[in-house]
Amino acid sequence: MTESLPVRVFADRNDACRTLAAEVAALIGAINDSGRTAVLGLATGRTPLPFYAELIRLHREGALSFSRVVTFNLDEYLGLPGEHPESYRAFMQRELFGHVDIPAENVHIPDGTVGEAELEAHCQAYEDAIRAAGGIDFQLLGIGRTGHIGFNEPGSPKNSRTRLVGLDPVTRQDAAPSFGGLEQVPEHAISMGCGTILEARKIALLAWGSAKAGIVREALTGPITDQVSASFLQEHPDATFYLDAEAGAGL
Ligand code: PGA
Repeated sequence: MTESLPVRVFADRNDACRTLAAEVAALIGAINDSGRTAVLGLATGRTPLPFYAELIRLHREGALSFSRVVTFNLDEYLGLPGEHPESYRAFMQRELFGHVDIPAENVHIPDGTVGEAELEAHCQAYEDAIRAAGGIDFQLLGIGRTGHIGFNEPGSPKNSRTRLVGLDPVTRQDAAPSFGGLEQVPEHAISMGCGTILEARKIALLAWGSAKAGIVREALTGPITDQVSASFLQEHPDATFYLDAEAGAGL
C-alpha cells in the first residue's frame, strides 16, 4: 500500500459519517466564532445521505446552526428544473436544507435550466460567487465509478473550472434506476471543475461499498491523471478519504 493521502477506514458508513459530521460542526463553529461565515462545498448522490442525516440530527439537538453557513453544490443536471425530483436542487432540499436553518439566499446550486446563450456567464458567475464568499472552507466529495469528483469525467483537466460537461456512459448507467431508465438520464451537466474543487481548503471524499473499492484504490495509489479526476487529490495538502471497510478493502 503506497497511498500518500490520509485514509480513515470505519466499520460502517454511519460510523464514518458520525465522525465527519462532528468534525464539520466543529469547523463551522470555529469559523463562526472567528467572525466569519463558513463556506461549504456540498455533494449529492447516495453517498452523502448518512452524513446529511447526521448534520440534521446535530442541528435538532441544538449542536449545529447553519445560520452563518454559505453552500455551493458541485453540480446540476442540464435541463432539469429545480422542481424535478431528480434535480440536485430538489435532492438538497429534501435531504438537508429543508431540515436546517440555512437562509435560502446562502444556498448556491448551478441552474440546470440556463439557456445556451447564458451558460458561460452562468458558470463564470458561479466561480465569482465562490471567490466573493472567500473560497470554500470544506468540500464534501463522493467518487463515481469513473473516478469522477463532481461530474469531472475522464479527460477533465486539473485546472478545469465550472463548465458544461458531458456525462460518461458509466455515470449515466449508474443514474438510470433513479431516473426510471437510461433514456431519462440527462447527457450533460454543469459542474465545478477540478481546479475549482482543488482550491477548497479542506476536502473529505466519502466512499462506501465494494463497488467503489477498485476506483478508490486507483485514486489513492495509481498515477495522478486526468483519467481519474479523484487522483488529483493526492496533491492536495488537506484531503482525507473516509471509507467503510468494503470500500477500503483494496488498500
Ligand atoms: P453515489 O455517486 O454517491 O450515488 O455513489 C457518487 C458520485 O458519482 O460522485
